[in-house]
Amino acid sequence: MYVDGTVGGGGHAEEICSRLRGPGRLLCLDADDEALTSARTRLAPFAERTFFVHTNFRNLRDTLAEAGWTHVHGVVLDLGVSSHQLDAPARGFTFREDERLDMRMDRRQGFSAWDLVNTRDEEELARVFWEYGEERHSRRIARRLVARRPIDTTGALRNVVVSAVGGQYLTKSLARIFQALRIAVNGELDSLRSALADAVDLVVPGGRIVVLAYHSLEDRIVKEFFRSESTVQTQRGIPLLPSQEPEPRLRILTRKPIVPSEEEAVHNPRARSAKLRAAERRHVGSQHT
Ligand SMILES: C[S@@+](CC[C@H](N)C(=O)[O-])C[C@H]1O[C@@H](n2cnc3c(N)ncnc32)[C@H](O)[C@@H]1O
Repeated sequence: MYVDGTVGGGGHAEEICSRLRGPGRLLCLDADDEALTSARTRLAPFAERTFFVHTNFRNLRDTLAEAGWTHVHGVVLDLGVSSHQLDAPARGFTFREDERLDMRMDRRQGFSAWDLVNTRDEEELARVFWEYGEERHSRRIARRLVARRPIDTTGALRNVVVSAVGGQYLTKSLARIFQALRIAVNGELDSLRSALADAVDLVVPGGRIVVLAYHSLEDRIVKEFFRSESTVQTQRGIPLLPSQEPEPRLRILTRKPIVPSEEEAVHNPRARSAKLRAAERRHVGSQHT
């Protein structure tokens, strides 16, 4: 019983399904209804093994409970936006097109990038650009943006960034500002923290959690979560007998993240920044294996 929390176009799911045997099942989640439609088509040959739920993976625990699954053998999360979302018209994720500012993965959600950009004050926007984009010119961009509101389209936002930054780092700044807004609109980092916490509870001993991250903010969350769950946590100053020590629940399988080869990055440039980390649920009681 496996969960693909980000089924997208169904590429990973198809590979997982092709390896399922006997009673093997895959629960496919995505916050984006269009992704689920295309995944369903691609996974039609595995219709008896697959289930689809339109939800955010932050609801992993409740979704599994509703499906009647008490545990799983593996969870995969391939974070961020899909190529489809970047390329499809009118989703407003990319500065390379001129579309209405949107960036919602789940279009049932009321709050979009338009609302964020046009209703939040300068200080909050600068904080979003700094915290979620690590953008050095966050204050200047926020000031220009507020002065030029309303900002209705990705093209208008792009022009604000061009006027505030310019120069050789422009493309990087554009990528950082668009990334920051996307993370804020979709609550991406909190969703990831919540899904990891649920996954470690729900995965059986020997089962695995695999996460692909595409920027340092999300990769740091995964790395620190795996590290804290794979080391013994003792409260300072409280001596414990070895038998009383809380046991780590995870064993890290990827000491360093797995990254694409040069060849893969050339063939699939959007994978260039990917970092894959994997961990295995330990058997409780099998101290430090
Ligand atoms: C990089 S793509 C996944 C591609 C997929 N692995 C494949 O093989 O086609 C990311 C997908 O995850 C979805 N997604 C991102 N964050 C999500 C979240 N918090 N909950 C549910 N789906 C999410 C996006 O809508 C998108 O379809």
